[in-house]
Amino acid sequence: MRILLTGRTGQVGSALERSLAPLGQVRAFDRQGLDLCDLKSIRPKLRSEMPDIIVNAAAHTAVDRAEKERDLAFAINSLGVQELALEAKAIDALLVHFSTDFVFDGEKPSPYIETDAPNPLNVYGWSKLEGERAIEASGCRYFIFRTSWVYAPGGRNFMHAILAAAKSRPELRVVDDQHGAPTSSLAIAGAIAKVLADPGLADKASGLYHMSAGGETTWHGFAEAILEARGVVTPLVAIPSTEYPVAAKRPKNSRLDNTKLAATFGIALAGWREGLAAVMRALD
Ligand SMILES: NC(=O)c1ccc[n+]([C@@H]2O[C@H](COP(=O)([O-])OP(=O)(O)OC[C@H]3O[C@@H](n4cnc5c(N)ncnc54)[C@H](OP(=O)(O)O)[C@@H]3O)[C@@H](O)[C@H]2O)c1
Repeated sequence: MRILLTGRTGQVGSALERSLAPLGQVRAFDRQGLDLCDLKSIRPKLRSEMPDIIVNAAAHTAVDRAEKERDLAFAINSLGVQELALEAKAIDALLVHFSTDFVFDGEKPSPYIETDAPNPLNVYGWSKLEGERAIEASGCRYFIFRTSWVYAPGGRNFMHAILAAAKSRPELRVVDDQHGAPTSSLAIAGAIAKVLADPGLADKASGLYHMSAGGETTWHGFAEAILEARGVVTPLVAIPSTEYPVAAKRPKNSRLDNTKLAATFGIALAGWREGLAAVMRALD
């Protein structure tokens, strides 16, 4: 099986490069090797590689910067993805893609299911939603996995930001009115490897799935667990989102219902605390 992976330098991409290796020949590309902004380069690249599966872990994920970089966010998250999907259709490859809880406005009082109506609050969310729609319209075989609050042993993420800030500040103020499940790149990459281990499923189960860690918390709860895991005693203060102004609005409810994933693939990601423990072990 030939697998083409984009975004190999990212949190999810780097974990996937390892987890997919036992499944076949993985050809992993960084931004220089396959630039989603360079639409004209995508077709020749895919035609020369002729993968059975395209796994797209590349994205513009800087949520606040996207408010100012609208064109770039849409170029990568919508237009580049559309080109990948059209090409997947043309060469009959399966497209595996990732999307986000930020396609929702967070007003629902319970976890979101796949058929809930999206209504993004920010440019990043809109650009990701347009990417989803382009895939669905392309006619290719696909899996879209919406996940949430991704972090990893490496890379820039909330976990590292909290650990760094705790070293330099007398106290940390973290929002406690956004609810979701921090999901580790390792858990995502492990689950994708399980899904792709059964090639027949792609024909039967093509579609959109929610894939987040079990349980739920707030950013404050996550920060507390991170500091506790490292034995850091810097005081944590819970604050409302209104006291932490950022460029992009975030949904209050980022919780994803993973029932469809479990029913289709028999896969459930571990609880977020277990996921954090595994990432902490990877740091040691
Ligand atoms: N991070 C989250 O909290 C979160 C939450 C929900 C869903 N997701 C989704 O999960 C997926 C993986 O996210 P992640 O956290 O692993 O992202 P990430 O760590 O920010 O990695 C993004 C990857 O995309 C690459 N990239 C950026 N622009 C590109 C371009 N024009 N062409 C090709 N590659 C490009 C980056 O390369 P460089 O290293 O060169 O920049 C990097 O390898 C994405 O679809 C994201 O939308 C993420």
